[in-house]
Amino acid sequence: PAPGQCLRTFLRDLGWFGVKKGCDQGDCGACTVWLDGVPYHSCLVPAFRGAGHEITTIEGLASDGKLHKMQQAFLDAQAFQCGFCAAGMIMTAATFDAKAREDLRHMLKGNLCRCTGYHSIDDALHGVVNVEDEVAGVEACGRSLRNPFAESIVTGKAHYTLDVPAEGALHLKVLRSPHAHARITSIKRDKAMAVPGMVAVFTWEDVPRKLYSTATHEDHLVDPDDTYVLDNVLRFVGQRVAACVAETEAAAEEACRLIEVEYELLPAVFDPEIAMEPGAPILHEKSVAFRDNVYVDIHGELGSVEDGFRQADAIHEMTYSTSRVQHVHLETHGSLAWRGEDGRLHVRTSSQAPFIAKQKLCYLFGLYDRDVHVFTERIGGGFGGKQEMLIEDLCAHLTIATGRPVRFEYTREQEFTSARSRHPQILRFRTGVTTEGKIVAAELYIIGNTGAYGTHGLTVQMVSGFRGLTTYNAPYSKFTCDVVYTNIPTPGAYRGYGAPQSLFALEVHTEEIAVALGMDVIEFKRKNWSNVGDALIMAVALGEGREGKPQVVTTSALAECVDIGARAMGWYEKRGKLKDVPGKPHLRKGIGMAIAMHGTGIAGLDMGAASIKMNDDGSFNLLFGATDLGTGADTVLAQIAAETLGVPLNDMIVYASDTDFTPFDTGAYASSTTYVSGGAVLKAAEDVKRQILDHTARHMLHCSLEDLDLDDRRVLHRDGRSVTLEQVALHSLHQEDQHQIMATASHMSDISPPPFAAQFAEVTVDMETGQVTVDRLLMAVDCGIAINPITASGQVEGGMVQALGYAHCEEMRYDEQGSIVTRDFGSYHLYRANEMPELEVIFVETYEPSGPYGAKAVAEIPKDGVAPALASAIFDATGIHIREIPFTPERVWRAIYHQKS
Ligand code: FES
Repeated sequence: PAPGQCLRTFLRDLGWFGVKKGCDQGDCGACTVWLDGVPYHSCLVPAFRGAGHEITTIEGLASDGKLHKMQQAFLDAQAFQCGFCAAGMIMTAATFDAKAREDLRHMLKGNLCRCTGYHSIDDALHGVVNVEDEVAGVEACGRSLRNPFAESIVTGKAHYTLDVPAEGALHLKVLRSPHAHARITSIKRDKAMAVPGMVAVFTWEDVPRKLYSTATHEDHLVDPDDTYVLDNVLRFVGQRVAACVAETEAAAEEACRLIEVEYELLPAVFDPEIAMEPGAPILHEKSVAFRDNVYVDIHGELGSVEDGFRQADAIHEMTYSTSRVQHVHLETHGSLAWRGEDGRLHVRTSSQAPFIAKQKLCYLFGLYDRDVHVFTERIGGGFGGKQEMLIEDLCAHLTIATGRPVRFEYTREQEFTSARSRHPQILRFRTGVTTEGKIVAAELYIIGNTGAYGTHGLTVQMVSGFRGLTTYNAPYSKFTCDVVYTNIPTPGAYRGYGAPQSLFALEVHTEEIAVALGMDVIEFKRKNWSNVGDALIMAVALGEGREGKPQVVTTSALAECVDIGARAMGWYEKRGKLKDVPGKPHLRKGIGMAIAMHGTGIAGLDMGAASIKMNDDGSFNLLFGATDLGTGADTVLAQIAAETLGVPLNDMIVYASDTDFTPFDTGAYASSTTYVSGGAVLKAAEDVKRQILDHTARHMLHCSLEDLDLDDRRVLHRDGRSVTLEQVALHSLHQEDQHQIMATASHMSDISPPPFAAQFAEVTVDMETGQVTVDRLLMAVDCGIAINPITASGQVEGGMVQALGYAHCEEMRYDEQGSIVTRDFGSYHLYRANEMPELEVIFVETYEPSGPYGAKAVAEIPKDGVAPALASAIFDATGIHIREIPFTPERVWRAIYHQKS
């Protein structure tokens, strides 16, 4: 090993890519390996200490061709979503003896998972089998079939973005701004270039001077072109100053330290309300911003909201605020670019939208579309954080400039300083109600802090407005919003996309109104929530940054979700009654609830495509442009095709997310993949089915098409005759009317049928310290038909726990100079296995006629209801409505203290 090298990087350099990197300081456990059978976080072990010891990585766990029993347990429980944490989890759990098994959750506290909520991992540790065996002739959809890549995930053979050899690649490191607002006056690179192994330093003078947006939206016009690849004006601490490429990572890092930069310091502003005041420092030129620091203001109104308020008996007005949190996908951003033998630029990357990333690269560097290839393999989580082009541009440009492959990977600290986050908002609701509890008018004003750049700034706040005003759908509604530039790192897309902010405010607000009216909170909400047949009246006024589409609620099981959830939680027995904890007078218990309505893709915008080719043996190659970030897309889309073609899942060979080989897809975001890309898969499969039946009818069974159907790998005639799909494939390819049975289809939808959910929470509040302990979370969700229930419940559990962090303990905090202080997993607290509340998910299915096999979305709705349900439970325990998240001990204690004083 090199001097100072840790065991993790040493093992990865040797090609043992099952050893993952999720952090750099022993916090996440993704790099766990054994030394002489004892688990260690290999990033904390100096590599030379491995000498003389037997080192076991996940690749060495199976023996004699048989999986280790813990690998099998993770496989059977499907104890992962993206799978990035699985190797480390298994390496830790496989060492547990009887004593360790007495407190499994505690023993796993050193291994983080950001996707699952630990529920399925707990199942694996207890030997629960969650996946179903495939049964011949039984439909694929609606069943918990195994992820086609599951075995490669539990054996460490799955290749995530940077799990490939990169011989000859240069390493890219970036010098970042220490100032929140500054102009570069000079950069000296001599000392940096003198570092042995240094190849080049690139500054703002060495890259195309083209404005663009890092957001990877299909319609780029919804984002402001306010960003340069490298700029001479720096607008947040952590912004790129210069890029160094070198033969080694260490040389590139050393060179970054030796670049000499002189800055002219500029005044900075961090508070969006101050940023809107006259005389505030201005971040961008007039041509970029709409009005000083207001990048855009949004207005949408239906009728005259003031007419509505005149019909109200009372008007309630309250202000709420939400904080900044991060995605914390365990796999950090990574890209590898190179010139192929074909002379083209190839980019292997961790992107949720490779097709749009490719468009951006072509635009920025003046490349022809045909000369660029962008693709993904396995991705270790994204949650919206990879719906941006944050690394591919530099990686590609430096590959073009140096002619060498270039590798670029964020550290965990850079994820916090320089990647994206959720927009913090200030939300003011004004709602008019009658004495009978009917909402007649609603007005929402939001100040959205878009940080230094406007990427996703418009569209996220549009979604906030839409969700905040359609969940209860008042007949008179008005939305206004100022999206404001400040000198904090730029927020972006994050799972939920504006809805978690506005639903927190909305649900606390409606509970406050119900209390003021003396009504039961559920009855007040029930009286007002959107129902089947309701037109979502703000849909036309608020498209996502473009002309909106009329939307009507087509299916909803919200009432059932609330009733079933309330019964399961004992709501009516506990609400308002379960206050004291015997023998502990400082503790109070409470139960709370909230509802949520989300969307399923973006109506009239998201587009997915798929193609299916029949092989000689009757199996199929399924190609689609969608990306599986841990959402289960590969499994679910294959199930849709398998059911349509009457074959087991195993017969679908999946290729995804590759601009050269798969059809186009706008990207994996907005809860769109099952519905939109799944719609494309369904159409392609139906076309292939028609071709199979047609060939069989005309050339093999000589019958009418209508007499045939597909099932169990066969074409069945109603008279009992049948041929196998293999026979059809061989006949059509090699014998008669020779042709390839295959089809390509595209799908987009003009509607976005909402999934619904009821979220319940139970908490214990320490009235002396403000500490809130979350005891139980239950979500009853209507996502249409769950195509793969175990994958869907993994999505809901994981989403709920991310939302729990948002509500309870996660917060990106900055010092007075705008420098983030929460830069690691020590200071930015994620829920760990030993801290988990009891979790429960109940699916209340409806059949959405516009979705493939009745499906709606499930990915984002779990993010919406946890914060307000916690607020509701804290209110039940303490009698205090807290209008700001997260509910840290300080914040809750202050609220209790102010109530007392
Ligand atoms: Fe655990 Fe993704 S499955 S981090």
